[in-house]
Parts: sequence; C-alpha cells; structure tokens
Amino acid sequence: MTIDQHQSDVLIIGSGASGLSLALQLAGHAHVAVISKADVKEGATFYAQGGVSAVLDAEDSVESHINDTIDTGCGLCKSDVVEFVVENGRKSIGWLIDLGVNFTRLPESDGQEFHLHQEGGHSHRRVLHAADSTGKAIESTLENRTRAHSNIELFEFHTSLDLISRDGRCVGAYVYDQVNDRVRVFRSRCTVLATGGAGKVYLYTSNPDICTGDGIAMAWRAGCRVANMEFVQFHPTCLYHQEAKSFLISEALRGEGAQLLLPDGSRFMEKFDARGELAPRDVVARAIDHEMKRLGSDYVYLDISHRGEDFVIDHFPAIYARCIQYGFDLTREAIPVVPAAHYTCGGVVIDKNGRTDVEALYAIGEVSYSGLHGANRMASNSLLECVVFAHAAYKDIRRNLDHAAPLPSLPEWDESQVADSDEEVVVSHNWDEIRRFMWDYVGIVRTDKRLQRAKHRIRLLQDEIYEYYGNFRINNDLIELRNLSLVADLIIESALRRKESRGLHYTLDYPAPDPGVPARDTVLQPE
Ligand code: FAD
Ligand code: SIN
Repeated sequence: MTIDQHQSDVLIIGSGASGLSLALQLAGHAHVAVISKADVKEGATFYAQGGVSAVLDAEDSVESHINDTIDTGCGLCKSDVVEFVVENGRKSIGWLIDLGVNFTRLPESDGQEFHLHQEGGHSHRRVLHAADSTGKAIESTLENRTRAHSNIELFEFHTSLDLISRDGRCVGAYVYDQVNDRVRVFRSRCTVLATGGAGKVYLYTSNPDICTGDGIAMAWRAGCRVANMEFVQFHPTCLYHQEAKSFLISEALRGEGAQLLLPDGSRFMEKFDARGELAPRDVVARAIDHEMKRLGSDYVYLDISHRGEDFVIDHFPAIYARCIQYGFDLTREAIPVVPAAHYTCGGVVIDKNGRTDVEALYAIGEVSYSGLHGANRMASNSLLECVVFAHAAYKDIRRNLDHAAPLPSLPEWDESQVADSDEEVVVSHNWDEIRRFMWDYVGIVRTDKRLQRAKHRIRLLQDEIYEYYGNFRINNDLIELRNLSLVADLIIESALRRKESRGLHYTLDYPAPDPGVPARDTVLQPE
C-alpha cells in the first residue's frame, strides 16, 4: 500500500439527500469520507421543487398515503417497504426540521403548522415544501452541516469509477480525481452508493448532468442484482424552450389548479383519467405524448394564469422567475411544456437496511431499488425514501462496523498499458447516439421492434466503448459513457423481458397488464 491511499470507516459515494443524511448521522460514531462528482450541491436533490411527502394534515392518514403509493405503483410496490417508509415519514421530516430546513409555514391562525402541496396520485395535500425550491433548502442545510463536521471529509470533483472487492466483501473504490487527473484508491470498511439516478441516458431529461447511472453500473460490475430498470419515469411538464435544458415545471402547479391545454385552448386530461391533471405521472405523460403525436405538435400548454399574479408569484417564485428569463409570464399566459425523463424507479436491489448483494456495500436513494415505487413512483416520495433509508442504513452500518474485518492492502490503479486518447470524438459521438436512440426507441411508448433495434445498437456501441476504455487513459466523460451504455443496456433488456404494459412501461405490442401471471419484478443478475 502507498501512503496516497485514502482510508475511512465509511466511504459514501454521492452528496445528495441520501448521502449527506447518512454521513451526518454516522459522523458521530465513525470517520466518514464523502465523494461527489461535481461540487457538493450538484445532484437531483438540489433541483427538487415540489417537496417531500408525509402525513401531517389531521384529515390525512398513514393508511391513505400507503394506499395511494401502492395504487400508483400498479401492483409492484412491496407493501412492507411502503409501510416502513410512510410510517417513518413524520420522524424523517422532524429530523430535517431539527437540522434547520426551512419548510413553508402557515400563519398560526390556520391551525396547521406547514403549508402542504398536492401532487399526482395523492388523495390529500401531504407534500411539505420550501416554496418551489425544496431541494435547494434541503441540500444547502445538509451541506452546511456536513462542512462543519470534523469527522466528515469531503472530496468534490472526484468520480468513483469502480468498486474494489476482496473475498466477496467491498473494501473501497477506485476514484478519479478530476482536478489532479489521477486515480486514487479509497479504502473503507463499508461503502455506500448514493449516486442518484440515470436520467442522462435520455436525450431530454429534467436531471442534472451528474445523473449518468454510475452507481447502478458499478454495483452491477461488482456482482449486485439490478431490478425494474424498464420503469423510467417521464415527468409530464418540462418547459419547452431551446435554451431551457428541460427545466421542470413542478407538478405542484397542477395541484394548485394549473390546466393542461391543447394548442386550441381546450383541456384534454379528463378524456384519459377521471383525476384529470392530478392523475399519476405515467398517465399524464402518456396522454400528453398521445396528443402531441396526434396533432403533430412539439408541445402542449400548461396554464395557471387564472390563479392570479399574487398567488402564482407567492407560491412559485423560482419557477416564475425562470420562465420570465425565457420570455414566458406564468401569471398572464399558458406556457409550452413537454415530458422528459425524470426518475429511475429501478436500481440496485437492496433490503430494508439498504444492504446490497455484496457484503459491506450499501445503496440508498435513487440509485437503489427498494420496492417502494413499484412500476411508477408517486410524486415527492423519493426525497422521503432518501431520508428514511439513510436512517435505516445508519443503524445497520453502526451495528456492523465494530465487526468489520481489517482492511487488506490494495493495488494501485494500473495505467501502464494505456495511452492518451487519440480520438475524443468517439466519446462525444457515442454519448449523443445513445441518448438519442434511447429517446426514440425506449421512450414513453415502446414496441418490441423498437426495443430490438435499440438492443442491437447498444451492443455495437458497447463493444466500441469497452475497447476504447481498455486502451486509453480515462477521463470523466469516458467513465460516464461506459456507465451510461451499461445502464441503457439494462433498461433495454428489462423492457424486452416485460411482455405487458404496466405503470411506466407501455408497449403497443402488449397494451395491457398481463392477466395470466401475477405482477412480478424484472430482476437481472450479473453473470
Ligand atoms: P442525488 O441528489 O442525485 O445525488 C447524487 C450524488 O452522487 C451527487 O453528489 C453526485 O455528484 C454523486 N455521484 C454520482 N455518480 C458519482 C460517481 N461516479 N462518483 C462520485 N460521486 C458520484 N423528488 C421528490 O421527492 N420531490 C420533488 O419535489 C422532486 N423534484 C425533483 C425535481 C427535479 C428537477 C429532479 C431532477 C428530481 C426531482 N425529484 C423529486 C427526485 C429527487 O430529487 C431525487 O430522486 C433525489 O434527490 C435523489 O437523491 P440522491 O441522494 O439519491 O441523489
Ligand atoms: C415536481 O415538483 O413536480 C417533482 C416532484 C417529484 O418528482 O417528486
């Protein structure tokens, strides 16, 4: 071992809601290293708008939250996991409030402490929020606390590229230090993937650039099972504007009465679902896709102008300001919106403690498949899942850390056989190609033929990418491209195996759920 190898009790890969929530709890008992691919804040958490779901209204109940989650999940939620998460909702919210997250409060005279949003699939108002920048409020609070903690070391602009296992146990990771352009060994008694989702597999996505599915790919290569990757959630309403890079328009607007309109100004959602604009996301995104294709239109409209200027600016200040930047005034006009890839419902298979199939390796948050979301995630349940599973993993890791085996010495990253890249264009071209055909062939509406086309293409590209990876020095883009291609392959393979339509997976070849077999997960096992 060289002195350059870093060592910690726990290595957490990812600094979003899940990673930082875990780090803060463990830091009282262990030395924690947190690495993030960009600056600490950059991740899906920071951009979350709508909020965190939890039962706080006296008229609401835990049973109702559980039932709504299970209904939205179209037969594939694990009921014990749903109960576990929902029952821990209040406590998790309390923990965030105690840390200092500034959720929007109501005047004392209202008899209720917090203002609650309503979103698709929820039969009550139960989404706690900080105006329309909930993620920013949570992430900034967690970040400040983390930076102030002497037992947490933060490594920004560090990209984990592969996990290291010895005798079936995870003992750390190889990590690419972007600033110094070198790969370091991070040794740890326990490692946690908190790397978020994989929205960047698609051409249009609400996700920030870091969401390239790295954790799913690393876990797969380390021998973990991956489940339900076909269930990619498309958010119905992202702003349609060339420069807006799929800026999200929160579902909370529809919760406050915003209507979806066709170009002629007519409403259409009620034709598709009695819940109208507040139907679950799979239903709304498919309805929009259907209407756009039927009319040959690039977008539909979302209109909240009838709620008046004061209401709109007061409730949605950040969204209002961003729209103004792009020339749209939410308070006076309908704005153009389109669906975009938003959330990865599948992921690394974990148990209720966040444990994966590999010893001493955990996964929490969007990277994981816990069984909470089933075939379709209900809005605002994911931030809740991040915090609840961070608590569960904390307890389990703390219990087991004392018994963890001593760390073996590990070999350095070997670069002796590779050269500097001679054709960077291969990387950028393959990035673009994957994202485009995933959008065209593995999008909101699928067919076997389109999926087969995608399968053929991804295999060709993977051969090229793996050869390139084996021969040239790595950089961040190449690490991400290798992961993106693997995750695309897992999505396509899972979609091909599901011979029915269910939740977010809709195929014209089998347009209904299979009545012949009980609902089942798609579980892939590495060879
Ligand atoms: P993230 O917050 O995405 O963090 C991932 C971390 O992993 C980052 O720090 C990243 O740098 C790091 N990372 C990734 N790969 C590597 C690597 N190879 N090496 C090192 N570090 C790595 N959910 C809700 O419940 N309510 C909402 O209102 C809501 N709104 C949303 C709005 C938007 C625009 C988006 C995109 C998502 C929204 N979601 C919402 C979903 C929710 O925000 C995410 O599911 C959740 O924040 C994921 O948290 P996480 O900690 O798992 O990952
Ligand atoms: C939104 O605000 O519409 C996003 C909520 C979510 O993805 O849970």
